[in-house]
Amino acid sequence: MPAPATEQPSARPVPRHVAVIMDGNGRWAQQRSLPRAAGHRAGARTVRSTIEYSVRRGVTALTLFAFSSENWLRPAEEVGLLMQLFLEALDREVAELDANDVRLRFIGDRARLAPALVDRMSAAEERTADHRRLDLVVAVAYGGRWDLTQAAKRLMGMAQAGTLDPQLLDETALAGCLTTAGREQPDLFIRTGGERRISNFLLWDLAYTELWFTDTLWPDFDESIYESALEDFAGRQRRFGRTAAQLQAS
Ligand code: FPP
Repeated sequence: MPAPATEQPSARPVPRHVAVIMDGNGRWAQQRSLPRAAGHRAGARTVRSTIEYSVRRGVTALTLFAFSSENWLRPAEEVGLLMQLFLEALDREVAELDANDVRLRFIGDRARLAPALVDRMSAAEERTADHRRLDLVVAVAYGGRWDLTQAAKRLMGMAQAGTLDPQLLDETALAGCLTTAGREQPDLFIRTGGERRISNFLLWDLAYTELWFTDTLWPDFDESIYESALEDFAGRQRRFGRTAAQLQAS
């Protein structure tokens, strides 16, 4: 990944945090009479270009949904291939993320992943821990319901241990136990591949996120489509429950 310069800030608001469901790899391959694996490999290349463009446009946090809790239901061969792709991508890209001041982290149920992959993930997290230009989070074996459930378990453990008064449980305490704790909520959610749903992604965190959908299949998601999403975001009025008049007055 070449060191991309952040483009001149424009007057148009840019989302600080973008969250993406990368859908359509399989159909992209099918359209070309290729095996699904070819679609996932093409999708991995789009991950790289999307990271680069995010940095250039001044996005400071990017969350990518790479493998959901439900993706375990796919044929074992495809699951194995995706895990292999994650390993290869880690080995290939981490040095460059490191060189480009990108912090890489993972969210998801690591207990379900192969120890070799978990070790490489942890090593990549440690290596890039001090970087600040882009906070890149990859969701692997992740589900929004899983995240809320593990947070509830932690809170119950704290209550049982006497370190949390259940009466004092509030949104901040719950958010602090999610795997996304400490990160800003996504400003813009993008889903490629034509479906208009959240599919158990960041259920808590997307509460006030602007949603944007495109029929473009993930391997074809390029700068111009990304730019369309950013342009659309720039025109949205975010009210967070307030009235338009209140916003104008502030
Ligand atoms: C959805 O397309 C995509 C996935 C389930 C996997 C996403 C993986 C990548 C983009 C590859 C590499 C990722 C990283 C982080 C290196 P689909 O298979 O559901 O497509 P379909 O809906 O057309 O079948």
